[in-house]
Amino acid sequence: MSQEKLNSKVIDEVRKIVWPRNLKLFTAGPVACFPEVLEVMKFQMFSHRSKEYRELHKDTVERLARFVEASEGTVLLFPSSGTGVMEASVRNFVSLGGAVLTTIIGEFGSRYREVVESNGRRAVVLEKNAGEPVFPDELDEALRKHPEVEAVTITYNETSTGVLNPLKELAEVAKKHGKLVFVDAVSAMGAAEIKFDAWGLDVVFTSSQKAFGVPPGLAVGVFSKEALKKAEAIPSRGWYFDVLKYLHYQEKEWSTPSTPPIPQIIGLNVMLRVVDEMGGKSAWLSMYSERAKMVRDGVTRLGLELFARRGYESPTITSVKSPEGIDGYEVYSRVRERGYEIAAGYGKFKKTSFRIGHMGYMPKEYIEEVLGVIKEVLAELGWVGKK
Ligand SMILES: Cc1ncc(COP(=O)(O)O)c(C=O)c1O
Repeated sequence: MSQEKLNSKVIDEVRKIVWPRNLKLFTAGPVACFPEVLEVMKFQMFSHRSKEYRELHKDTVERLARFVEASEGTVLLFPSSGTGVMEASVRNFVSLGGAVLTTIIGEFGSRYREVVESNGRRAVVLEKNAGEPVFPDELDEALRKHPEVEAVTITYNETSTGVLNPLKELAEVAKKHGKLVFVDAVSAMGAAEIKFDAWGLDVVFTSSQKAFGVPPGLAVGVFSKEALKKAEAIPSRGWYFDVLKYLHYQEKEWSTPSTPPIPQIIGLNVMLRVVDEMGGKSAWLSMYSERAKMVRDGVTRLGLELFARRGYESPTITSVKSPEGIDGYEVYSRVRERGYEIAAGYGKFKKTSFRIGHMGYMPKEYIEEVLGVIKEVLAELGWVGKK
């Protein structure tokens, strides 16, 4: 068979497996990619030791650093999903056996706790009820009680409940106590403001498949000088997620120790240019907050309640309480049958909620459409609205 001619038979076979229907995505991630991303990810591959790669890597890192306002911090790229950098934060910046204050407002805060404990560190837990953020005075009190902790973990945007923590204020408290601040910004970076230097953050990470709207496989980490200095004294940082090794390769040759996901980096690079074309970071963030408001207003008009406490709603995902007697998973399934993929409730909220993601490529009319479909599905399930 000719190598030059596309073998559409095999392409169609695979398409049938992964893309049986043309669903519009309102997922929690991976999210729909911008067309520009899909286009550039077709580019033929090249070596990650080539001069072309170095230019791509350097440009991507510099654009990210501008985006998160990190002129003091260092941006590094990892061939992993976001959880890889979560693990790296513990292995590189916390002493073996040392304590970490893990704040938990949902499932991903719990994951951070597991990562801390499974890496031989001790988790001191500050846990809130679902729908609530952590308040600065609560963090202050926990840190007064536990002066031994070396770092604080904060889920900036808790994807399971759709709550945005007050990161700037929480970081201020943690720094007042002299602690390192680790931020899971997986579903926040690219949609919620991050001022890395000014807010005194030490580790912030995200995954490509969320608010930047790129396929999964690439993680981004931002690290403060203080954190990187501390890593020098931590033994057994491992190999794959040794942040100092990444730093070394970046400084030496604008590359990574092992092979990076080049197509995703190309995709992210094009998205950072799309952000500029759309008017820069603040215009881009406004697009996200407008979308989120449109979704919130829509579900509230239907008479539904949100999970998140008012004033702390997520810019990237809206978690909705399923009405009394209606199975949230059934709502998710029926909406999907109609061609719109929202997200089911997460973990223990699978039956009592459903979520509407608003990340990635999403024309406004899609939002109107999905709200209409949710209304139809709820009516079909016998919900007559709030009395
Ligand atoms: C807040 C948060 N943290 C961590 C993760 C895990 O990210 P990844 O799957 O890229 O490792 C997710 C994924 O949804 C998330 O939403």
